Amino acid sequence: MSVAAILLAAGSGERLGASVPKAFVELDGRSLLEHVVLTLHDHDPPLGILVVVPGDIDDRLTPGAFRATDQDMVISKTGGPTRQASVASGLEAVADLWRPDIVICHDVARPLAPRWLFADVLAAVKDADGAVPAIPVTDTIKRVDDDRVTETLERDQLVAVQTPQAFRFEALRDAHERAERDGVEATDDAALLERAGYRVVIVPGDPHNIKITRPEDLRMASFLRGLDD
Ligand code: CTP
Ligand code: MG
Repeated sequence: MSVAAILLAAGSGERLGASVPKAFVELDGRSLLEHVVLTLHDHDPPLGILVVVPGDIDDRLTPGAFRATDQDMVISKTGGPTRQASVASGLEAVADLWRPDIVICHDVARPLAPRWLFADVLAAVKDADGAVPAIPVTDTIKRVDDDRVTETLERDQLVAVQTPQAFRFEALRDAHERAERDGVEATDDAALLERAGYRVVIVPGDPHNIKITRPEDLRMASFLRGLDD
């Protein structure tokens, strides 16, 4: 089973408000991208890693990410205007480079994703088309229309989903092509497989695998890293 990972690093990080794109912002002395690359160092099975970065990235930003790795890693300056477009361009590159059986999509905005979580989604996708990490929701979630509550959702049926997400390569490609054809835009890849009728399963996520969105998330991530040491 050949596996490739697409690392999504092409967002601008508008809500973080840093002077460089979010993937190149530092957390405890290393860029978010470098944290992810180190996590995947010497991965078993071996991974082809494709990093999707913005087309106009300053080349001085990228070398640091690749210091400590011997993986087959390629930088692709093909980031699109949306996450979905960045994944689609990454898929084309991965098809040309490795044509893997399985592809893992991971947001570099989640620099704390542990190695075991990559292993868990890879194990689970063997019996499915997609496998995603999920965390039970503890808040009560309501549907609203402006400031009026219209519905309270059944919490037992809700989970919050993270990356890394693993997919059968052909299923992910097909799901992306269909979405493009239908003009559908989603915030994760699993949603595109779901609407195309593919089977996506969940594995237990990691509560520490937070997404860096705003400046305070960097402080929280640093704190969580301290706990894990
Ligand atoms: N991403 C991407 N290409 C885009 C937009 C997002 O590769 N056009 C990636 C980001 O780099 C990130 C992940 O998708 O790893 C999740 O996106 P998000 O957290 O929204 O990051 P940004 O889009 O960079 O942040 P913001 O929305 O605040 O600008
Ligand atoms: Mg965004």
